[in-house]
Amino acid sequence: MKTILITGGAGFIGSHVVRLFINKYPDYKIVNLDKLTYAGNLENLTDVENAPNYVFEKADIVDAQSIFELFNKYSFDGVIHLAAESHVDRSIANPMEFINTNVIGTINLLNAAKASWGNTEGKRFYHISTDEVYGSLGEDGLFTETTAYDPRSPYSAAKASSDHFVRAWHHTYNMPVVISNCSNNYGPNQFPEKLLPLFINNIIQNKPLPVYGKGENVRDWLYVIDHAAAIDLIYHKGKNGETYNIGGHNEWKNLDLIKVLCKIMDQKLGRDSGTSEKLISYVKDRAGHDMRYAIDASKIQKELGWTPSLQFEEGLDKTIDWYLENKAWIENVTSGEYQKYYQEQYEKR
Ligand code: NAD
Ligand code: TYD
Repeated sequence: MKTILITGGAGFIGSHVVRLFINKYPDYKIVNLDKLTYAGNLENLTDVENAPNYVFEKADIVDAQSIFELFNKYSFDGVIHLAAESHVDRSIANPMEFINTNVIGTINLLNAAKASWGNTEGKRFYHISTDEVYGSLGEDGLFTETTAYDPRSPYSAAKASSDHFVRAWHHTYNMPVVISNCSNNYGPNQFPEKLLPLFINNIIQNKPLPVYGKGENVRDWLYVIDHAAAIDLIYHKGKNGETYNIGGHNEWKNLDLIKVLCKIMDQKLGRDSGTSEKLISYVKDRAGHDMRYAIDASKIQKELGWTPSLQFEEGLDKTIDWYLENKAWIENVTSGEYQKYYQEQYEKR
């Protein structure tokens, strides 16, 4: 039986990866390590929490000692590392948290794996990263695996730094690593501070929709289940030392996306056409706001046979339905500490 460590498994993408691995690989033991920050929620995993091949460990990857102890306890065969501080706006307000978790935390995991794996035969350290490390595109062009790193927010700088450390452990210590850089994800269980779930929640509650700047920034959206499928493929079939870009071939200008969302929400909520669009409120732009992200995913398509399975319209529809059907989840994750943070951030704008 192989034992796989998944970090950040109580978060948005991590919970989908944990579920996929538990169900698809009953002969793997899946250990989910998560600090349960505001973004980590075990409610994301209630359907699989009693699976015989699943264990949850509450731990902080910044705490080197407890990470070493966990590696000793379980003798992991592989690591899929998703734990991170993930929201750009929070990284602007509080960069140190990002440097600690995303950089130091990643190095702690690399060190623990190196110490624990004498012979690395059959072992794998898979680091999940973002396309934001490549910086910002103009109107044309796509990020490829060879695009030079040019991170511009504290979040993307911390992720870029962690990518560099992962590659350094590969080149220096022969650590069997693989990295993927993915575009913006959307889908069920995404914390309602990122664009889509925040706006869905605000429309439900008739609250303003804070569009940064003129809403002209472009993002390339991918359904989270397609990202989880790519992670499964790369974990099992990717080549050591390689990087794979993952993206949806699905670029949207923020304002266009928000208008489509408003239209669908009006229909689903039985409101007059145009009601949700009236909630749009243009607010001060994000500092250093990257203009455009878009991924060239041809390498993973050609080498591993991955393509996104869902059309965007279908993914968006499923996502909206999930939030409409899970109002208690939204209520639970946005209560307490988050409410205070959101009020402060919103009032500042
Ligand atoms: P998320 O914020 O929803 O979840 C992050 C998880 O990490 C949470 O469960 C949190 O509790 C945990 N965590 C945070 N700090 C920790 C610490 N110090 N120790 C242990 N656990 C800790 O993030 P997400 O959107 O699911 O992103 C997961 C990963 O994918 C991140 O590495 C992110 O950079 C990357 N990524 C995200 C996107 C996206 O669109 N969301 C796109 C590309 C890559
Ligand atoms: P976000 O979901 O924070 O992802 P990222 O910044 O990592 O791409 O934001 C997606 C886009 O939406 C980005 O261009 C910023 C914009 N945005 C808003 O206009 N208003 C908001 O309230 C949020 C959270 C984001």
